[in-house]
Amino acid sequence: MKSKKNHELSPKPARKMTMQTIIGRDIEKAVALLKNDDLVAVPTETVYGLAGNGFSEEAVKKIFSVKNRPSSDPLILHTNNPGKIREWVWEFPEIAGKLLEQFAPGPLTLVLPRNPVISDKVTAGKETAAFRIPNHPLLLELLSRLSFPLAAPSANPFGYVSPVSAAHVSAQLGGKIPYILDGGRCNVGIESTIVEIREGKVVLLREGGVSREALHAVTGNKLVIGRPEDKEGRTPGYLKSHYATHKPLYLGNIEELSVRYKNQRAGYIFFKESIGIAANNPVWILSPTGSTDEAGRNLFTAMRELDEHPDVDIIIAEAVPETGIGRAVNERLKKAGFSGNS
Ligand code: TXA
Ligand code: MG
Repeated sequence: MKSKKNHELSPKPARKMTMQTIIGRDIEKAVALLKNDDLVAVPTETVYGLAGNGFSEEAVKKIFSVKNRPSSDPLILHTNNPGKIREWVWEFPEIAGKLLEQFAPGPLTLVLPRNPVISDKVTAGKETAAFRIPNHPLLLELLSRLSFPLAAPSANPFGYVSPVSAAHVSAQLGGKIPYILDGGRCNVGIESTIVEIREGKVVLLREGGVSREALHAVTGNKLVIGRPEDKEGRTPGYLKSHYATHKPLYLGNIEELSVRYKNQRAGYIFFKESIGIAANNPVWILSPTGSTDEAGRNLFTAMRELDEHPDVDIIIAEAVPETGIGRAVNERLKKAGFSGNS
C-alpha cells in the first residue's frame, strides 16, 4: 500500500490550465493582449467572436484549440478598412466593391481569392479567404488601434449555439481566455451572411444578417444560391448538425410535436404567439410584433435558456416566415434540430 507521502509525490494527472477571465470594456487592455498573441472575445453586431491576431500563427493556433475546432474549418478575418481587403486579395471584382459600399460595416462576409500574405492556417489551406467589416462601435475602435486583422470565429465551442452576450461567452469559454470585451447584447443576433465571389457570380454560402432580398437588390441575377455540395465542401459551418443545443430540438408543427413527445417535458419556441398546449411550459416568443429581425435577435438566447432550463428535456420550435432574416433563423433551427437531418 502506498504511503500518503508517496501518493503526494506521484505525478499528478494531466490537467488543463485554467486562467482568470475578466469581463470589461477596456480597449487598451484588449489591444495589449492581442498584440501579445493572446485571445480576446469581442462583440460584433451579429454574435461574439473569439479574436486573435490574424497574422500570427501562434494566435490562430490558440483559436482552434480554445474552440476545439477542426483545423479544416477556415476563419473570417475582421478589419475596419475596406482598403486592406483589397491589399489582401489578388482579385477584387467590381461587385465586391458594390457589396462593401452597401453593406460594410455590417453583417456580410466576402470570400475572395487570397494573397499569400494571408496564412493558410487561417484559411485551412484554401485559396480563398473570408473578410468582414463588423458594425460594432467598440470593435471598430479596437480594430482602428491594431495593425493586423482579427481572425475570429463565433466564441462558442465548435458546434454549439453562438453567444450573443458577454455572459454567454463567459459561461462557455470562462477560464480559457483572459478577457471578454463587453459590448452588450448583439443587435442582429445571428451570424453574418457569407458570399463567395466566383467567376463574376455572388454565391450565397451561408444565410445570415443580410437578407437574400437585400443582397439581390445589389447583385441582381449575379446572385447564386450555393448548391448543397458547396455548402458541405466549402463552408464547414454548413455541416448538418451545427448551432446545436445539448437537448434535442424538434422543428415543425408545434401541436403535432407536442402530441408526439407528450411524455417529455418540453420548452417551446414560438414565432409570434404561444398556443394553449404550451400554457404550463417554459415558452419563448421570438417576436410578439411578428418581426423576423427581432426573431433573429432573440433566437440564440431562447435556445440557450431552454437548453439550460431545469424543467425542460426537449425543445419544440416552429419555423418563422421565410422572408428577410427569417430564412437565416430557420436555417439555424434546422441545423440545431432533429427534424430528420441530423
Ligand atoms: O457573424 C459572423 O460571421 C461571426 C462574427 C464573429 O463575425 N463569425 C462567425 O465565424 O460566424 P464562424 O467561424 O463561426 O463561421 C464562419 C464560417 C465557417 O463556417 C467557415 O467555414 C466559413 O465561414 N469560411 C471561412 N473562410 C471561408 C472560405 N475561404 N471559404 C468558404 N467558407 C469560409
Ligand atoms: Mg460559428
